Amino acid sequence: MNPDFWQERWRQGEIGWHATEINVQLQEHWPRLGAKPGERVLVPLCGKSLDLLWLAGEGHRVLGVEISSLAVKAFFIESGLVPKIIEDPPFLRYRADELEILCGDFFDLTAAHLGGVTAVFDRASLIALPPAMRVRYAEHLHGLLGRVLRVLLITLDYDQSEMSGPPFSVKEEEVRNLFGRRFDIEPVARMDILANNERFRQRGLSRLVERVYVLGSRGA
Ligand SMILES: C[S@@+](CC[C@H](N)C(=O)[O-])C[C@H]1O[C@@H](n2cnc3c(N)ncnc32)[C@H](O)[C@@H]1O
Repeated sequence: MNPDFWQERWRQGEIGWHATEINVQLQEHWPRLGAKPGERVLVPLCGKSLDLLWLAGEGHRVLGVEISSLAVKAFFIESGLVPKIIEDPPFLRYRADELEILCGDFFDLTAAHLGGVTAVFDRASLIALPPAMRVRYAEHLHGLLGRVLRVLLITLDYDQSEMSGPPFSVKEEEVRNLFGRRFDIEPVARMDILANNERFRQRGLSRLVERVYVLGSRGA
């Protein structure tokens, strides 16, 4: 699952994960984080998600990270925002007021890019990655972020033998293994979503559960 895989998905328009509405779990559970207007929120692997706009609408300073320039350009065109584009190697920084997307590889982020980030929204980011990369992803996040941090994490849970990812199945045990050293982990919702997901039924799934977690760093 190297960057070329994703670039090709965007080139081919094979972006079945993209939602045309704001994520319902985000709207329902974000308040649990207690993130105040003005707080800076990281949205890793953000695609052209409309959730960036919702978070900005809540008064947050939003920082998305996305490897595909097609996705980033589409986000700004489709949202009607006109960004300033600034070279910030190895990233290109697209900025429209308090909404920024760093176009480049998440694994190239340094703590300097994330100054002031206190909350993270992860939908279809962790589960986009195969197992070894999920470990790298969690380690990289741990290394980047300061002490006080909350995360709203949305995962999928299904029988991995029925379908190859992405999206990958990430069970609660794995969430605890990846993040439990540093975070208190609270499962806050669990929904059976197979009935509403024709494309996953067609891919052979007999069970599909979406799970939502609130992670709070200890000492926060
Ligand atoms: C499954 S999509 C989810 C997008 C978004 N979170 C959403 O909910 O619509 C995963 C996204 O991560 C991007 N991506 C994959 N690997 C990346 C990396 N190493 N750095 C930055 N973005 C990456 C892909 O281009 C793709 O847009």
